[in-house]
Amino acid sequence: MSDKKIGVVGAGTMGQGIAQVVAVSGFQVHLYDVSEEQLGRAKTNIDKGLGKLVAKEKISESDKKAALERLSSTTTLNTLSDCTVIIEAAPEQPELKEKLFRDLSQLSSTAILASNTSSLSLTRLAAVCEQPERVVGMHFFNPVPVLKLVEVIRAEQTSDATVAEIESLAKALGKTAVPVGDAPGFAVNRLLVPMINEAAFIVQEGTAAPEAVDEAMKLGAAHPMGPLALGDLIGLDVCLAIMEVLQEGFGDPKYRPCPLLKRMVAAGYLGRKSGRGFYHYD
Ligand code: CAA
Repeated sequence: MSDKKIGVVGAGTMGQGIAQVVAVSGFQVHLYDVSEEQLGRAKTNIDKGLGKLVAKEKISESDKKAALERLSSTTTLNTLSDCTVIIEAAPEQPELKEKLFRDLSQLSSTAILASNTSSLSLTRLAAVCEQPERVVGMHFFNPVPVLKLVEVIRAEQTSDATVAEIESLAKALGKTAVPVGDAPGFAVNRLLVPMINEAAFIVQEGTAAPEAVDEAMKLGAAHPMGPLALGDLIGLDVCLAIMEVLQEGFGDPKYRPCPLLKRMVAAGYLGRKSGRGFYHYD
C-alpha cells in the first residue's frame, strides 16, 4: 500500500491534518491548493504537528524527516494525475466541489475520488464524474491526527471495490472506518452540530453563559470539550452551513439555525480561525 501516491486537495485545517496522517503512515502525498501562501502555512503546521508526535515519542526525529520528504505541495491540479486515491478537502461550496470532481475525474480514469465533505451529497458529486462508481465519502474529524474515526459514505453509484479500498486505506492510516449512508450530515454531524446549535440558543436566551454551558457538558456528560468551544474549533461558519444543509435536506424545522449563530458568522466571528467566536483567541 505504501508505494501508493495519495493526493490531498485543499490545504486548510482538514487537508493539513489528512496530509500529515497520510505522510506519517508511509504514503507519498501531493498536497494541492490554489494558494502558495496557504501551502506554506500548511507545511509549517504539519511540521509542528509532527513535532508534537516527536515530543510525545510517538515517532522519531528521522520518522518526522521521512514523512516531510514524502510530502510535496503543488498549485497545479494535473500533478495529482498519478495518484491512486485523491482525497478532496476543499471548502464546503457545492459548485466548487462539483467543478473539482469533474476536473479530477477527467485527470485520471482510475483514481478513487474521495471527498471529506462534512455534509454534501456524495451522490450529487458522483453524478458529475466520469466513472462515478469510484466516488466515495471519506470523512475525517478535527483534529485529524488525533481522532480515530473516518465515516465512509457510499453514494448511490459507489462500487463495493471502492468502499473496500477506502476502508483498507483508513485502516492503513490508523483510523477506524464506519459505514454511513448518504443522508444530510451523515451520522456524526447530524448529532453533533444540532447540539452546538442548541447550545447557541441557550446563550442567546440568556439561560447560561458559554463558559457555563461548556463546563456543564464537560462535567455532566464527560465531553472532552464543551459544545461552544467545539463550535469555535470546527468553525462557526462550517456549523451554520451544516445546519442549513440539514434544514434543507430534511425539510424539518427542528434543524433551524440559531439566529445568534447566524449573526456571529455575519460579523466574521468564526471561532478559532478568526480569533473570535464564543471565546477570544490570540
Ligand atoms: N498532530 C499530532 N498530534 C496532535 C496534534 C497534531 N496536529 N494535535 C494534538 N495532538 C495530540 C497531542 O500531542 C496530545 O497527545 P497525548 O494524548 O499523547 O498527550 C493529544 O493529541 C491531545 O491534544 P492536547 O493535549 O493538545 O489537547 P486535549 O487533551 O485538550 O484534547 C482535543 C484536545 C483532541 C481537541 C479534545 O478536546 C477533543 O477530542 N475534542 C473534541 C473534538 C471533536 O469532537 N472533534 C470533532 C469535530 S466535528 C468534525 O471535525 C467533523 C466536521 O465535519 C465538522
